[in-house]
Amino acid sequence: MRRMHQYVFAAIAAGTSALALAQSSATDEIAKYRQLLADGNPAELWEMRGEELWKTKAGPKQATLEKCDLGKGPGVVKGAYAELPRYFKDTDKVMDLEQRLMHCRMTLQGLTKEEATKRPFGSAGNPSDIEAIVSYVTAESKGMKMAVPMSHPKEKAAYEIGKKIFFHRAGAYDFACATCHSVDGQRIRLQELPNILNKSNAQQAYTTWPAYRVSQGEVRTMQHRLYDCFRQQRFPEPVYGSDLITAMTMFLAKNADGGVYNAPALKR
Ligand code: HEC
Repeated sequence: MRRMHQYVFAAIAAGTSALALAQSSATDEIAKYRQLLADGNPAELWEMRGEELWKTKAGPKQATLEKCDLGKGPGVVKGAYAELPRYFKDTDKVMDLEQRLMHCRMTLQGLTKEEATKRPFGSAGNPSDIEAIVSYVTAESKGMKMAVPMSHPKEKAAYEIGKKIFFHRAGAYDFACATCHSVDGQRIRLQELPNILNKSNAQQAYTTWPAYRVSQGEVRTMQHRLYDCFRQQRFPEPVYGSDLITAMTMFLAKNADGGVYNAPALKR
């Protein structure tokens, strides 16, 4: 099995090399990073657009999102993300930021589910409102310590489901998240794979999403990161905003507890 994994790792590395910049251009890449850092993080543009969307009337109800309750009371955005996912009494379920946002856009603005989940991931010329709003909300937790609540039984249950998914092996390669993310110092080509069972690795990984991806020219959310990892795992595409993603996120967020939140960040 181990040998097969090594073989598959090599195959994946070859496959991702089209996406990732080749090893020889790593220095160019670093130079590009420095340039971007000097100019500030482009994610700030997403944050600004997101704040505008948050405060702009929309939908059949012509309402803004300013009364959206992200867990700290209606309208409180500051620090909300550092305490998500969490249990919400009004829906009687644990929700992550993107599920909650979907809920607010449907209840406050009167959008249909289809409208509220439209284009979760943007592309050039086709920006995503969701990525922008998520950038704005998450930025409002910058500098705060992750403090994910775990007192409600449904919060505990979500964590346990997330943990189960993390170790669940299946698919063409018989991979689990744990195959790539439970070993120290594992890497695919230039990419270091965080050991999510290690506290400081988990904190570093979780507190730096969303991120402006230099390779994609877009801000990507945790939903997108997980979507991409499920794809690498050769699992079926997860449904956007599903309870499965929320449970997975709960596991990741809780493992990052105590880490200082520092995103939207800048990544390869
Ligand atoms: C085939 C290997 C593979 C599998 C399986 C896999 N991932 Fe990943 N994961 C990666 C790679 C590659 C990256 C990108 C690392 C980079 O670019 O620095 C990554 C990045 C991540 C990150 C962000 C780390 C950071 O510091 O930015 C998280 C969180 C993550 N994966 C979670 C998961 C979860 C949860 C699962 C299971 C659903 C999973 N991964 C399955 C390969 C994998």
